[in-house]
Amino acid sequence: MKILVTGAGGMLGSDLCRVLEGYGHEVAAYARERLDVRELKQARELISLERPRCVIHAAAFTNVDESERNPDTAYAANTLGAWNVALACAQFDATLVYVSSCGIFDGQKETPYTEFDEPRPLTHYHRSKYLGEQLVARHSARHFIVRPGWLYGGSLTHRRNFVEARRREALTKPEIVSAKDKFGSPTYTVDFARQIMELIETEAYGTYHVANLGFGSRFDYVREIIKHLGLPNEVKPVGSDHFQRAAPVPDSEALEDCCLRLRGILRMRPWQEALEDYVKNRFLPELNQ
Ligand SMILES: NC(=O)c1ccc[n+]([C@@H]2O[C@H](COP(=O)([O-])OP(=O)(O)OC[C@H]3O[C@@H](n4cnc5c(N)ncnc54)[C@H](OP(=O)(O)O)[C@@H]3O)[C@@H](O)[C@H]2O)c1
Repeated sequence: MKILVTGAGGMLGSDLCRVLEGYGHEVAAYARERLDVRELKQARELISLERPRCVIHAAAFTNVDESERNPDTAYAANTLGAWNVALACAQFDATLVYVSSCGIFDGQKETPYTEFDEPRPLTHYHRSKYLGEQLVARHSARHFIVRPGWLYGGSLTHRRNFVEARRREALTKPEIVSAKDKFGSPTYTVDFARQIMELIETEAYGTYHVANLGFGSRFDYVREIIKHLGLPNEVKPVGSDHFQRAAPVPDSEALEDCCLRLRGILRMRPWQEALEDYVKNRFLPELNQ
């Protein structure tokens, strides 16, 4: 089928395009330079021109702290952007897959969040993503809202490549500090892309958590990365008050893929296994090229 991807130049968007092409789909990849989702007219023109069966909307302004300082930037790209893409999909009869966020809850729950928990975003970025969900649900009849865990993947050059950021940090600091009181479900972009392809085929529209299985603290995540990179650096657990951040990010963004499991289509592997696969079979080979 023909699938249009927004934000195709980003970390997730680029891996989505690779995976979709691997499945034999026809991919119309639109990076920000060719489709700025803040422009309704542009979104309508391009979707009318391409006539995709499905649009995967992965574009977003993703700087959480900058969104806190300049909320309009986040609401324009993320809320208005999702609204525009939803209107264009509705007009040209395309299924819409909206990539939302794991951080839309208040973070106080001790177990991972399911799709049946009530969102209560604490930051402008997460609120902009959650409002995007509501507008997608209102304006696009055939939609999936998919909430990934903490994403990693893409190539070394991607600004948001978390593994590469930790490797660079390790080159300059013998000891790396990381928060022991912030929790999430690290998720490989390629696993995410494969799972949503299977989900789209069910036509069981609605809201889904799509994260690798299990959860850990930011410290657990960083320690696992440094181990698989084979680096000697020590990783030290600290409280998150060690880091000065503009955005009051939630303590827990851990997700459980409850609806995928209930529908019998859960294919995600444990996060530690996926992370080892990415670092050993993709990241290090690219680094050593
Ligand atoms: N990374 C995570 O841990 C995580 C977790 C949960 C959900 N998500 C969601 O996953 C999606 C992909 O994020 P990512 O981590 O791959 O981040 P990313 O690398 O920053 O990708 C986002 C892409 O969207 C583009 N973009 C920004 N504003 C745009 C606009 N107005 N119109 C069109 N494109 C625009 C960016 O282009 P420029 O770089 O040129 O600005 C970038 O290429 C986003 O929807 C994000 O909210 C990410």
